[in-house]
Amino acid sequence: MNWKAEYKRKVSRAEQAIKDIHDGDCVVLGHAAAVPKVVPQAMANHCEDYNDVLIFHMTTLGDNPLLHPRCFGHFRHVSNFLSGNSRDAVSHLNADFFPAYFHDVPEMIGDEIPCDVAVFQATPPNEEGYCSLGVSCDYALAAIRRARSVIIETNEFMPFTYSNTMIHVSQIDHIIPCAYHLPELHSETPTEVEQAIGRNCASLIADGSTLQLGIGAIPNAVLSELGDKNDLGIHSEMFSDGVAALMRKGIVNGSRKTLHKGKVVATFIMGSRELYDFVDGNENIELYPVDYTNDPVIIARQYRMTSINSCLEVDLMGQVASETIGMRQYSGIGGQIDFVRGASMAREGISIIAMPSTAAGGTISRIKPFLTPGSAVSTTRNDVKYLVTEYGIARLKGRTLQHRAEDLIRIAHPSFRPMLIEEYERRFATHYTL
Ligand code: COA
Repeated sequence: MNWKAEYKRKVSRAEQAIKDIHDGDCVVLGHAAAVPKVVPQAMANHCEDYNDVLIFHMTTLGDNPLLHPRCFGHFRHVSNFLSGNSRDAVSHLNADFFPAYFHDVPEMIGDEIPCDVAVFQATPPNEEGYCSLGVSCDYALAAIRRARSVIIETNEFMPFTYSNTMIHVSQIDHIIPCAYHLPELHSETPTEVEQAIGRNCASLIADGSTLQLGIGAIPNAVLSELGDKNDLGIHSEMFSDGVAALMRKGIVNGSRKTLHKGKVVATFIMGSRELYDFVDGNENIELYPVDYTNDPVIIARQYRMTSINSCLEVDLMGQVASETIGMRQYSGIGGQIDFVRGASMAREGISIIAMPSTAAGGTISRIKPFLTPGSAVSTTRNDVKYLVTEYGIARLKGRTLQHRAEDLIRIAHPSFRPMLIEEYERRFATHYTL
């Protein structure tokens, strides 16, 4: 059948499409800035019609109507990456969290994450009947392949991106044409502390490196300190406005990449509307499923692969907690370990974990004698190469427990050093000298 006739036949209203969702089903939702809007709203409006429907999602930028209290009891949520709108639901036991590396998610779909209905967003079809998944590729194709019913919101405002991001009209069961702006994530101007961290990280980054930048304020601060570097590349889980700025200046040109030369590679994009316009139809940017971008073996093929991620706290042995504050699940592991391990295996690769020395307005040291009880270790002490704060760089790889502790105290906030020194002297039965 001609795809245009098929398209016409499949165009549907959200209220009609959600009739394909049955009690006990698992619905897999699109991710980050590409989270669908119209179908989840219709599901929330009709929540009383559903019982025990499992919703799998990761970060959902903007409002998530399915997480409104009136939907609890009708929809159960599971997620392996929390954001502002899902954190409280997990804390109050109205949703659950499961630990998983991001690169494993596509393989888990259909198995550990049963996928009956896939609800995603894409562009309207091109001349050949292909829709681009736009700013989020990650686990979409795996879900679309496995689902009994595929519901796609074809959004006029979704940027068209290239590479492994296409779905054909023939793969879709319900097409919901719509036009709404994507939710935006605006980068704040880096604080002095973040700028100092950015400068310390930049001092470790050599020309010709391929970078992965994680999520949060620190990656943006690092990017803003790379103005004097040359021939950088990007192979990342995600990127935001800071990368586009360096592409425009020619500092990010990918000319020395050993895989996908000249291209910026990621699995999702999150930022301002200006960024979404920049990526629309931009053939220098390629999106791939997360089981490719975040595969440590693929990452390790990049020369000078450099991963820069952030964390919430670290203990004196170098154990890094990036996703929990004590018992509270704050975010998820995402691709942190995928990239730490990939970068460590790469030729001349390095991995950096960077964080401000304090949290909560300077009242808490993020370098601690022990992790807050209940915290999960995200990146083990065996994996960390460099730990960076605004006070400097601690190289942990190849260092003994005593030397690690000394170096971590050196980059802790001065107000908290006495408390850390006390623990050091107790633990190692020796005086601490700077
Ligand atoms: N104890 C108590 N509170 C803490 C804390 C600690 N040890 N560390 C941080 N906090 C508080 C902060 O004060 C802040 O509170 P506020 O919102 O009231 O200001 C909040 O927790 C968030 O901390 P912050 O450092 O600002 O977070 P961020 O937005 O920069 O994100 C991570 C940092 C670590 C949460 C984020 O990078 C992450 O989720 N990493 C894991 C996943 C990952 O690395 N993926 C990489 C591939 S994309």
